[in-house]
Amino acid sequence: MGIKLFSFAVASVLLGYYVYLPLPETLNERWKLMVVDTCFRSLENLAELTEFIGLKHYMEVMMLLTVAEMVGPSSDENVTVVDTTFNGVAVRVFEPTNRNPGLRRAVIYMHGGGWCLGSAKMQPYDVLSRKTATELNAVIVSVEYRLAPQHHFPDQFNDVYAVVKYFLQRDVLVQYLVDPGRVAVAGDSAGGNLAAAVAQQIKEDPEVQVEIKIQALVYPALQTIDFNTPSYQQNKNMPILPKTLMVRFWSEYFSRDKSLLREMMANTHTSLEAKDLSSLVNWSVLLPEKFRKEYKYTPPGGGKEGTRVPGVFDPRAAPLLAGDEKLRALPQAYIMTCEFDVLRDDGTMYAMRLQRAGVQVTLEHFEDCFHGVLMLITWPANFAIGQKLMSRYIDWLQENL
Ligand SMILES: *[C@@H]1O[C@H](CO)[C@@H](O)[C@H](O)[C@H]1NC(C)=O
Ligand SMILES: *[C@@H]1O[C@H](CO)[C@@H](O)[C@H](O)[C@H]1NC(C)=O
Repeated sequence: MGIKLFSFAVASVLLGYYVYLPLPETLNERWKLMVVDTCFRSLENLAELTEFIGLKHYMEVMMLLTVAEMVGPSSDENVTVVDTTFNGVAVRVFEPTNRNPGLRRAVIYMHGGGWCLGSAKMQPYDVLSRKTATELNAVIVSVEYRLAPQHHFPDQFNDVYAVVKYFLQRDVLVQYLVDPGRVAVAGDSAGGNLAAAVAQQIKEDPEVQVEIKIQALVYPALQTIDFNTPSYQQNKNMPILPKTLMVRFWSEYFSRDKSLLREMMANTHTSLEAKDLSSLVNWSVLLPEKFRKEYKYTPPGGGKEGTRVPGVFDPRAAPLLAGDEKLRALPQAYIMTCEFDVLRDDGTMYAMRLQRAGVQVTLEHFEDCFHGVLMLITWPANFAIGQKLMSRYIDWLQENL
């Protein structure tokens, strides 16, 4: 009896220790987040172990979360849902059943998951698309692009590009009853990265005659130069997306080579040639005082040799590294950032650069939010702040698309 009680006490303390995280007071729904984070961390630990003993790639284990949440393409009273392909790339299309007279709007949506995880078929993305389709009376094309570690940059980008290019054809827009002047690209996290990248590149494609009207970027990842921005430093141990995981996502996007991950973690992957690019990500001038705080700016690069992995500084992978001439031509943007997110400063700097280039930008910063919360909108991980972000995103589209 005594020993059982003792074991129970020890187990409770250990569990409490494992679950408890000292999170900031201003963070909403902290206890719920600790529980969600414990599930995440347990899976991450399992993934580390499985990879270490050579059984499976880290991301293949992490993918279990995505697979567990997949749902079929089921239509309901408001939306007709179909899985199909555009230009050979898988997409899930949500069409409102309410056929009001007149043309509809459209959103091409890119899911998040660090270019390695996630799916248009995951329940939270399915829910988000249905809600957007119903409330906006819009066609939603949710892109099922290929993922790392099987596929690397530029495959993810190319898939998304192929879908957007296909959809922007006049006959396709007619088929879906979509107004050619009211098409948006949108995405969260790595999906925000892909949306921003495609918005930049498609501008220069002479075969594309229809313009994207707006871009909506939810806590996007936008740059590969500096993994020591104030938000990377402040939030390096935040739940859902600690710095180690974000940098791992970046390195997996380009290569399976673990040396890139080590260089990126140490911020030594940027070469001397990247110096010109560094000024595009100079947070000592691109961030407001309240984010810079007491953090000390050190220019990345430092004359080291840097990475030889191709693509790492390509603006199709890191849209913040595009020059000002490119930014000037971009469509109106909505950028959402969260205080407790390593990517807060990526989004903030992009908003600042777009604004300076004369692009109309709405930057909405949430003081009480953390990365990934837009995905926490379904049982059992349903967060009030996730619902809030979803409503804000849809409301902005309602007003601007
Ligand atoms: C259909 O849309 C209405 C109005 O937005 C909503 O109340 C209802 O729950 C939706 N139905 C489904 C099955 O989601
Ligand atoms: C960043 O901005 C600061 C302040 O203007 C400047 O001193 C520094 O040289 C800049 N560094 C880079 C790499 O652009």
